[in-house]
This record gives sequence, structure tokens and C-alpha cells, in this order.
Amino acid sequence: MSIEVVTTIADMRALVDSVRGASRSVGLVPTMGYLHAGHRSLVERAAAECDHVIVSVFVNPLQFGPGEDLERYPRDLAGDTATAAAGGAGTVFHPTASEMYPEGEPLTRVIVSKVTEPLCGRFRPGHFDGVTTVVAKLLAICDPDRAYFGRKDAQQLAAVTRMAADLNFRARIVACPTLREADGLAMSSRNAYMSPADRAAAPAIFAALEATAAIVVAGERETSVVEAKLSGELAGRPRLDVEYAQARDARTLAHPDTLSGEVLLAVAARCGPARLIDNVVIDLNGPRPAVDAGEIKGEP
Ligand code: PAF
Repeated sequence: MSIEVVTTIADMRALVDSVRGASRSVGLVPTMGYLHAGHRSLVERAAAECDHVIVSVFVNPLQFGPGEDLERYPRDLAGDTATAAAGGAGTVFHPTASEMYPEGEPLTRVIVSKVTEPLCGRFRPGHFDGVTTVVAKLLAICDPDRAYFGRKDAQQLAAVTRMAADLNFRARIVACPTLREADGLAMSSRNAYMSPADRAAAPAIFAALEATAAIVVAGERETSVVEAKLSGELAGRPRLDVEYAQARDARTLAHPDTLSGEVLLAVAARCGPARLIDNVVIDLNGPRPAVDAGEIKGEP
């Protein structure tokens, strides 16, 4: 399938108008590029559900704090275009920072309160404001019927879902499973930062999440007991510097004393130069707890 790379907002709008004019639906997969198999699965899902798929590739300066990895974030437009095409996308939207922010820092930001405050919000001040602002701009520019986000970024997913509902965007926000390497490590563009020794240590995060999910499945509902188990599983693991290890409501990110509904077990840890996040969700609504840990897709 042929794919077009569009770099201006005007051209992107004209393309969307022509797709919509032909009564065809639009799917958007927002990314910062350096696409991996997890991104590819989002593109494939979008292509299965929408007539025309746009993959945005934009390393958004607004969501990086001072001293974070904006400059060294990995970039590979040729590889991304090939991956997007192979997944069934028709367009890559790749604007420059000055196309997206012609006045520099925008005076308007989209701020979602509450769900952005705990977890990563405590360690990356302003990060989610940057994410929801750029996602709002991408939704305004591409006006998709559906927009696809990975469950690995659970807090981002919660914030974007709430923003799209609060601001009445047309797009339905579609949550897609986390894809994992053969040893359980969640796929991420930032995994490229790790040395072999860091990489060997990193799967301990998913192992800790799985061991903790097992006690919830077995009937444990006290948040403090579940969090103690998660922290205990991570304690002393080489090369992992844990920022948080928590159990929360998966949708609101509230922190009740007793777990019910959909439970998010979430971890953030530094592993060498990479900051890794991961989670599993346990649905306690049915007759039996159901664990969503994503899918192992990597080669052994
Ligand atoms: O998840 C990401 O890659 C980014 O946060 C997103 C949603 C593309 C916004 O820049």
C-alpha cells in the first residue's frame, strides 16, 4: 500500500476533508515515532476498523520536562513510514515543532485535573498537560472517528479518554493491549536506551506485577497489602530504582483502601538511562477476576 508523508496542518486538513468527503472513516494513531511492534499493532487495529489511517509522528517538546530526553529521543522517519505502511496506514503526519507551535510555547493548554496528579504526575510535572494539549491539537487537525492508544501508558489513556469526553471530540478513544517482549518487558521506544545489563534486569518489573496480580486474583483486596506485595517483589532487584508501585482504580486513578471494579497495578522505575512504566489491570466485576497483562509478542 502506498503511503504519503504530510508535514503541514493545511495539507493534513485537506486530506482529511477529501477522505471524509468520500464518506470514508478516519483512524488516528498518535505516536512520537521510533515505532515498534506495539505501535504496529495499533496501526493494524486502526486499519481493521477505519477506512483511512493516519499515523502522527511528532516528538512533542511540550511534554518533556527540563533535563528529560527530548534531544536524544530516538528518531527514524524512514523506518516509521515503512512500519506504518506495512500496518495499513495511508498517511504519516510528521509536522515540525514550528508547524505545531508557531508562536513557540502556546498560551493555551489542555489540562485534565485529578487523573493526571498521582503516579507519573508527581514525578513529571507538566508532562500530562503537554500530552493532552498535543493530543487535542492532533484531534482538532485530523478529526478522526477513532484514535488508538496503548494500555501501557495507563495514566495517559485515562487522561486522554477523559479529555475527549469532556471536550466533546468526535473521536472514540480506543484502548489497545500492551505488547511485551518474550521475557515480559513491555515494548517501548525508550527500551533502546538500556545497556545489555539493564535490559536483563528490566523484566523484573513485569514479574513483580504478575506476582502481585496473583494475590488479588486469590482474593486480597486491601490496597496496603497489595502495594506492600508489589514493593516487596521489586525490593532489591538489581538496577531498578523504583519511583512508585501502586494499586489504583483503573479509570479514575483514585486510591481507595479496598480494591474493587477495575484495578490498576502500576510501576515506574528507572533502569539505567531509561525510565520504564508498566501495569496490569485486574477486572473484579465478573464472577472471577480477569487479569489484562497485555500480550507476549517478542521473539525469544
Ligand atoms: O504516547 C505517546 O507516544 C505520546 O505521549 C503521544 C500520545 C503521541 C503524545 O505526544
